[in-house]
Amino acid sequence: MSKPWILVSPASRGIGHALTRHLLRTTTAPILATARSDLSGVRKSILDSNGSDGDRLDSASSRLHITRLDVTQEPTLESAAAEASSLFPQFTHHLHFALTLPGVLLHPEKSPRDVNYHDALETLRINVLGPLLLMKWFGEFLPRRNTDISLEPLFTNSGNEEPAHATWLTTSARVGSTSDNRLGGWYTYRASKAAVTSLTKTFDLHLQMRCRDSAISIAYHPGTVRTGLSKDYWDRVREDRLFTPEYAARRMVDVVRSRKVAEHRGKFWDWKGEEVLP
Ligand SMILES: NC(=O)c1ccc[n+]([C@@H]2O[C@H](COP(=O)([O-])OP(=O)(O)OC[C@H]3O[C@@H](n4cnc5c(N)ncnc54)[C@H](OP(=O)(O)O)[C@@H]3O)[C@@H](O)[C@H]2O)c1
Repeated sequence: MSKPWILVSPASRGIGHALTRHLLRTTTAPILATARSDLSGVRKSILDSNGSDGDRLDSASSRLHITRLDVTQEPTLESAAAEASSLFPQFTHHLHFALTLPGVLLHPEKSPRDVNYHDALETLRINVLGPLLLMKWFGEFLPRRNTDISLEPLFTNSGNEEPAHATWLTTSARVGSTSDNRLGGWYTYRASKAAVTSLTKTFDLHLQMRCRDSAISIAYHPGTVRTGLSKDYWDRVREDRLFTPEYAARRMVDVVRSRKVAEHRGKFWDWKGEEVLP
C-alpha cells in the first residue's frame, strides 16, 4: 500500500504558511513545505503556532520537512525533488496533495505604458514558470494508474466520502478569468493567472494519460486574503470578504476534498467550490 505525503510550496508566509499549519493539525501525513530562505525560522514559525499540546507538537515536528526552493532557480527545484525522493521513495509513497502557490503582485500596471519589461518578466517567471517547474519536478511523485493507494484515513476527521485520488492544485486568481475581466489593468498579473488555467488543463490531460483516475489537476481562487500580496487593497474589500489566511487554508482544503474526478478535473474552482470560467 502506497502512503500519502503532501507538498506545500511556498510556505514561508501568507496562505501557504497557514495551509501547512492547518494540514499538520488536521492530517496524519508527512508534509514537505518549501521556502526560499531562513528554513529554520520558517519551521519554527509553523510549529510555534501549532498549539501547545506536547504529543501533537511532537507528531507535527516529525512530520514537517522544510526544504529550500526558489521557483526562479531551477537547481533548487531539482535538489528539493531529490530530497522528496529520499524522504518519500516512490515504491512506498505517493504525493497525495500538491498545493502550489507561487505568485506575486508586485507591479499592478494600470495601462500598457506602465509595463516595464524586467518587472513583467519577473512576474511571469514566478507566476507562470514557477507553477510549471513545480509540475516538472514534482508531478512524477503523483500516483500512477496502478498505484495501490492506502485506504488509511488521511484526515483526522475523515468522513466516508473521502476521495481516493490525488490532487495537484495551482493557485490562480479570479482576475485571471478573461470572461470575468470587467475592470482591466493589472496586465501582467492577469495574464500570468490566465496562463495558470491553461497550465492546469494541459497538466490534467497529461495526468489523464499517466495516472487515469488516480490524480487530477485543478486551479484555485482563494478569494481576497489578508496577506502581504493584497495589503494595498484591503480597504477596498468588504470586511466579510477579506479572509484570514487560516480561513483561506480551510476553504482550500475543503474544496480539494470535495472535488470529484470526472466532474471537476482540469478546471478552475473558487473558495466556494464554484467554477471560474476561463
Ligand atoms: N492574497 C490574496 O488575496 C490572493 C488572491 C488571489 C490569489 N492569490 C494567490 O495566492 C497565492 C499565495 O499568495 P499569498 O497571498 O499567500 O502571498 P504572500 O503572502 O505575498 O506570499 C507570497 C509567497 O510567495 C513566495 N515567493 C515569492 N517569490 C518566490 C520565488 N521566486 N520562489 C518561491 N517562492 C516565492 C514568498 O516567499 P518569501 O517569503 O521568500 O518572499 C511567499 O511565501 C499566490 O499565487 C497569489 O497570486 C492570493
